[in-house]
Amino acid sequence: MILITGGLGYIGSHIAIELLKENFKVLVIDNLENSSINQVNLIEKAYEFETKDCDFFHKFRFLEGDLLNKSFLGNVFLSYKIDAVIHLAGLKSVEDSVKNPLNYYVSNVFGSINLLQAMKTGNTKKIIFSSSACVYAPKNTMPLSEDSTLGPINPYGNTKLVTENLLKEYHKCLSTFSVGILRYFNPIGSHCSHIIGDSPRNESANLMPILGKISLGSIKHLNIFGNDYATIDGTGVRDFIHVVDLARGHISALQKILSEDKTLLTLNFGTGVGYSVLQVVKMFQEVSKEKIPIKYCSRRAGDLSISYTNPSLAMEMLGWKAEKSLQEMCNDSWLFFKNKN
Ligand code: UD1
Repeated sequence: MILITGGLGYIGSHIAIELLKENFKVLVIDNLENSSINQVNLIEKAYEFETKDCDFFHKFRFLEGDLLNKSFLGNVFLSYKIDAVIHLAGLKSVEDSVKNPLNYYVSNVFGSINLLQAMKTGNTKKIIFSSSACVYAPKNTMPLSEDSTLGPINPYGNTKLVTENLLKEYHKCLSTFSVGILRYFNPIGSHCSHIIGDSPRNESANLMPILGKISLGSIKHLNIFGNDYATIDGTGVRDFIHVVDLARGHISALQKILSEDKTLLTLNFGTGVGYSVLQVVKMFQEVSKEKIPIKYCSRRAGDLSISYTNPSLAMEMLGWKAEKSLQEMCNDSWLFFKNKN
């Protein structure tokens, strides 16, 4: 059985479906801080839509609980035989992390330490950790490779790097322990059923959920944070990756760590192609046939001008690469937003 922490979130829900498709049993824990219990039904529906398999609850379990609750976590590992953990739970707003840094250290770092302690109780020695492209220092040349200079510029990014280091250290000290550290770029898109997608309970400051709200009329225009960057059109450039590609990458990484007793993988998960904010807006307008009014405003504090990866190490180590185009990403996001409305 594979445990997904934070598994009712955007990325976790998609990973759960890919795991079930590969016949893994899945246990999700989530504290529902940024998701809702109804997500279990949505994952079930999306899974059944895609596979026509009505056996969902024989393979999928959900438990509400928090990584800061040690007795809950300990019981999870005593009650279930967990072969590996995919660790996604944590706080993820860069802006909020600057306002409340301690909350980020408590949830993201203490939460990870508690998880490792509970894994010890259950003798579980395999973990995939959801890290972020924001562990890299701003001054790197593009594309980013896994050995680019590290140096996060906000507390959120620092908690990711601290946790990476903790996992690396732990891996070094144990005779058997396998770790996959995956540094995500910018996941967008949705499941092919358009039943699950990016729909956090708390307000999101990310580009795609905002485009969704504008297209459906609940926000009037997009504030574009800066049009004076040294990029193709002056707006920021990011490596957007389809969330299903990202989820598939987790399956490849999981298979690798399951097959090896002492592995340490650190991989960037992106497409290798950067698109500007304006290029994404244009594509979103094209697929949705909705006009996205824009206003240029000043740069957002902490934003990078350009961020995209060299995806070749992931290909070399896992034989995995992202396949879906920007058009597919925007189309799936749009159909999800429309469906949810
Ligand atoms: C941010 C974090 C990243 C985190 C991710 C998910 C940084 C440097 N990166 O990515 O670590 O994993 O969120 O939470 O903080 N934009 C606008 N207007 C908007 C929203 C966004 O112009 O209303 C622009 C941004 O300036 C940026 C691009 O769109 O150029 C993407 O922004 P966003 O979706 O927020 O992701 P990142 O900032 O790249």
